Amino acid sequence: GRDRDLAGRHLVVSAGGTREAIDPVRFIGNRSSGLQGLALARTALARGAEVTLLAANVALPDPPGAKVVRVESALELREAVLAAAETADAVVMAAAVADFRPAATSDSKIKKTAGEPDPIRLVQNPDILAELGERRRTGRLPGATVLVGFAAETDDVLANGAAKLARKGCDLLVVNQVGAGKAFGTPDNAATILSTGAPPLEIPLGPKEGLADTVWDLVSTRLS
Ligand code: C5P
Repeated sequence: GRDRDLAGRHLVVSAGGTREAIDPVRFIGNRSSGLQGLALARTALARGAEVTLLAANVALPDPPGAKVVRVESALELREAVLAAAETADAVVMAAAVADFRPAATSDSKIKKTAGEPDPIRLVQNPDILAELGERRRTGRLPGATVLVGFAAETDDVLANGAAKLARKGCDLLVVNQVGAGKAFGTPDNAATILSTGAPPLEIPLGPKEGLADTVWDLVSTRLS
């Protein structure tokens, strides 16, 4: 059974959504609540794992027993993930990472001016999951480290998901079907889990804990 099947494992979970600062009071963010990441942390702890939770702007109580590292931006999350990954059996990237950040962060609050405001120039953030995949491929991470990504897709779930799985070099990709009251901020989730070397697995709409346990089942199989 699942009882303590993850004992002795160090599992790293990122949760929430990054904030990319524009000035001291403003940021570019997203609607990720952190609920799915917290469900992953709680279920892993219940199954005996040591859990490092990298919490990006999560406004929810810490899961008792987890080592929690708070981060704000994608660059901070990257540092925390790369450090924690060195001793991880699995890394699950459930956080919504901003693809772009302002090229510069103003030290003082940007004032309202007459006329056209200045545009905010954006630069690309590193793709943390792809970097983990690359590190594993080149031996900077142990080959046995299991890498899991999450993705939100509205259409062509299988084709887009398979391409993303390959591009990021991860083992599992949990594709959320977004829209119609699903995913963001709700306790329920529906998903398709794409897995290298296995057929896709449909997870019907249900509690985020159920999806989390299924992810850990697949991780546990790969670890044993
Ligand atoms: O490419 P996309 O954003 O759809 O991929 C989502 C997955 O990749 C998530 O697991 C997310 O945490 C991760 N990601 C990342 N670094 C980024 C963007 C996404 O690790 N810059």
